[in-house]
Amino acid sequence: MIEQAAWELFQPVVAYPKNVHFRAASLPDATPFHTACYPGRNLARFGVRFRHSLQRQAAGKLIYLVALAVNENDRDKIVGGGKLIRGEKVFEIVDLIVAPAWRSQGIGAGFIAIMLRLARDAGASAVEIGVLHENRRARALYRRIGFVEARELNQPGKKPATILRRPLS
Ligand SMILES: CC(C)(COP(=O)(O)OP(=O)(O)OC[C@H]1O[C@@H](n2cnc3c(N)ncnc32)[C@H](O)[C@@H]1OP(=O)(O)O)[C@@H](O)C(=O)NCCC(=O)NCCS
Repeated sequence: MIEQAAWELFQPVVAYPKNVHFRAASLPDATPFHTACYPGRNLARFGVRFRHSLQRQAAGKLIYLVALAVNENDRDKIVGGGKLIRGEKVFEIVDLIVAPAWRSQGIGAGFIAIMLRLARDAGASAVEIGVLHENRRARALYRRIGFVEARELNQPGKKPATILRRPLS
């Protein structure tokens, strides 16, 4: 029998659209991901960072997930992405983003549910996520999923942020 805490992890937190699925990112995703989620950023610089992340993924240091929506032409369109960074026992979610037109449909919660499961399967005891104080919507979402305030980050020259933590057992 599965204990309660473990069982909760495998429940979808919210439903996301049926035509959306998630997979690990790969090199051809760079340009469509940039267009969908980072149109204001320099494409070349984005590409360099993206390739670097994929190298770290190949080395087993992180998992870079993207969400795709199958459109009317049966083509996949990238609608979001996020990274799960492997740690000793505590893993970290960074750069979670859903394209503006696709927000408030459960895709962000879907990313987190999958990342929690991947972290747990890899032996993590907790997952952390950093959120700026000004990002109230994201913080409310993380709290709803069971993340709690762990510590404050007040670095000179940077906006104040909070690290939220979700224990896995
Ligand atoms: C934060 C972010 C990733 C959340 O993604 P999202 O896909 O919108 O998240 P969800 O849809 O799972 O949950 C958010 C909201 O949708 C609602 N929701 C969830 N499932 C829903 C559904 N099936 N139908 C309607 N609404 C739904 C939730 O109640 C929640 O309510 P809110 O609109 O008051 O916030 C997204 O807003 C984003 O990319 N923001 C910009 C980048 C950013 O801030 N990243 C986070 C850095 S810490």
